[in-house]
Amino acid sequence: MSKVDVVLGSFYGDEGKGKIIDYLSQKSDISVRCTGGNNAGHSIEIDGKKFAFHLIPSGILNKGTIAVIGNGVVVDPKVLIEEIKNVEKNGYSAENLRISDKAHVILPYHIEMDRLQEELRGSEKIGTTCRGIGPVYCDKFERSGIRMGDFVNMKFEKQLRKNVATKNKIFESYGHKTVDVEEILKEYTEYAKYLKKYVVDTVDLLHNAIEDNKKILCEGAQATLLDIDFGSYPFVTSSNPTIGGICTGTGIGARFIGEVYGVLKAYSSRVGEGPYITEQDNEIGDMIRELGHEYGTTTKRPRRCGWLDLVALKYAAMVNGFTGLAINHVDTIGKLDKIKLCTGYKKDGVTNMKFSVDLDYLKDCEPVYETFDGNFGDISNVKRREDLPENAKKYLNRIEEVVGVPIKFIGTGAGRDSMIVC
Ligand code: IMO
Ligand code: MG
Repeated sequence: MSKVDVVLGSFYGDEGKGKIIDYLSQKSDISVRCTGGNNAGHSIEIDGKKFAFHLIPSGILNKGTIAVIGNGVVVDPKVLIEEIKNVEKNGYSAENLRISDKAHVILPYHIEMDRLQEELRGSEKIGTTCRGIGPVYCDKFERSGIRMGDFVNMKFEKQLRKNVATKNKIFESYGHKTVDVEEILKEYTEYAKYLKKYVVDTVDLLHNAIEDNKKILCEGAQATLLDIDFGSYPFVTSSNPTIGGICTGTGIGARFIGEVYGVLKAYSSRVGEGPYITEQDNEIGDMIRELGHEYGTTTKRPRRCGWLDLVALKYAAMVNGFTGLAINHVDTIGKLDKIKLCTGYKKDGVTNMKFSVDLDYLKDCEPVYETFDGNFGDISNVKRREDLPENAKKYLNRIEEVVGVPIKFIGTGAGRDSMIVC
């Protein structure tokens, strides 16, 4: 039986998971999204064409790869249909898309609820993507959600009416815009018809594939420090984008998991609110943002930028059991003269590697940096790690040494081929 490989985000998302996924999915029979929804944004560049995926596993672009949206994902039908059409418009086929019958459906009231909740949080807002993610997972756990299977088989009207009645009462009480159940029914019935052919029992599909020795790749979305349990709560997303979410989001048992790749950038970034120890809210952060084009794929927001934090990375490696690291944007950081790497936190006069997502703990931690020389030059065509410039080698070696996990992939440029496989 085959082992399932997993790609996960190490920090606050946007680590360039899409690039690694794109490479690995070319060698996979099946590529699966497991958690989150269209709050994710994976961009990949193929033959000069840029694709931004929010829901469909990017493996869809490889002929013959089955692209699965697992049960742990929350699906906005409208966004999904737009994405299917976009794939087809660009000359690719969406025939190989499969959606779990157990995935929950994002409806307009989830999006309105997300907006209302952010408004009510005022200055303490989370900075969500306002895609309805928190509210749809609430309904799932509250057991009032609508699942894809019932949705496409037109068994959702009764639950929809109940939900809309409850949500509208809440909206009214805050003077927030209400939603119209008849309009939703009309519009979403069309979406349900459109999506019906893609909806199946994906648990069966995945297990048959494992038995047939097929190669499966699990595409993580979001990232470790955005995890509802292991992230900087409440500044997190409403799912488990860590390793456990891969099992519950697909029905694949832990013993079938093979490689677990942690993706990171040679610097760091964060969208939305919450603690960020190595943030450079200054001209260095601005420079990194411009060099790395750090603007959201999903919301276009400028990302907060800073140095790479190995204290947090070590924590991510521990929580997920990373077997390898994939480090992107080595070319980008190499454009700077001097690069800093956080190798400890100083608190109450003591420096160590202790990480905690406890906001009170993090509040007065100060990053301790080691400084490296940059100016790597153009490395986009380098194919072997040993051929990298000395400065780049020193930087990468130190990361590996501190975290204790081998680097398996090195991103050297934006193009599909600009990557060193170690
Ligand atoms: P990818 O897959 C970056 C962040 C939001 C916000 C918090 C909660 O592209 O790496 P939510 O809408 O999920 O309730 O927002 O989580 N967030 C992301 N940030 N990349 C993502 O996904 C994200 N998904 C959620 O900005 O701070
Ligand atoms: Mg993103």
